[in-house]
Amino acid sequence: MTDNQQHDGEQKFMRRIRTFVRRPGRMTEGQQWAYENLWSDYGHSVADGAIDFAEFFGRQAPVVLEIGFGMGDSLLEMAEQAPELDFLGIEVHTPGVGRILNNMHQAGVKNLRVMQDDAIEVLEKCIPENSLDRLQLYFPDPWHKKKHNKRRMVQPEWVQRVYKKLKVGGVLHMATDWEPYAEHMVEVMDQFADQFSNQSSRPPYSPRPQWRPETKFERRGMRKGHGVWDLLYEKSE
Ligand SMILES: C[S@@+](CC[C@H](N)C(=O)[O-])C[C@H]1O[C@@H](n2cnc3c(N)ncnc32)[C@H](O)[C@@H]1O
Repeated sequence: MTDNQQHDGEQKFMRRIRTFVRRPGRMTEGQQWAYENLWSDYGHSVADGAIDFAEFFGRQAPVVLEIGFGMGDSLLEMAEQAPELDFLGIEVHTPGVGRILNNMHQAGVKNLRVMQDDAIEVLEKCIPENSLDRLQLYFPDPWHKKKHNKRRMVQPEWVQRVYKKLKVGGVLHMATDWEPYAEHMVEVMDQFADQFSNQSSRPPYSPRPQWRPETKFERRGMRKGHGVWDLLYEKSE
């Protein structure tokens, strides 16, 4: 086997491990309308290639990327509350994409764009290096069972890629309601101590920053009695 064949094989293997399960989901009429009519203005696909953020948003502003925004209400609220920032949300679940497009249109929000692709591929193919001011990963699928842990988004390879995409001083902000995943995140980030510094005054965890609204999954977890762990890491030089 040549090195190239081995590389291709590894790539295929890596691609097969998905961090998500495609869920069927019905869209409301409004979501369907938004999906069909607003995508050309506010959407971007991996097939469209690398993103030029200044062109995509029509201005030069700090960029925040959120992976897995779910139904999108908390991301939309953040975008409304911070008009000086530009937000790009990635979600594979179609009703969530339809909902955020519909709601942002109705609210007249201009600083938000969406993608409906695997975020792993988006990072690889669409996000320029040193371009992000913040990357948000809120309540990623926890993959509770040990045999499924490899499907978790937060892995050393992923952090390495995130590091490249953030600007110096940019922040990786993660939150979870599943303590073993929080511990896993800390373990992974500990491997990057030279590249990231924990922003907490009492590391590793931080209180929820006031600019992060509660999310749908977070509220569901809290109803079940789960705790919440926020982790903020700044990219060092
Ligand atoms: C547990 S939900 C949390 C949703 C939302 N952040 C919240 O807190 O309410 C995780 C979301 O991440 C999305 N997701 C998982 N892996 C993804 C990937 N590789 N690319 C894009 N979205 C992904 C799933 O579709 C799901 O909606």
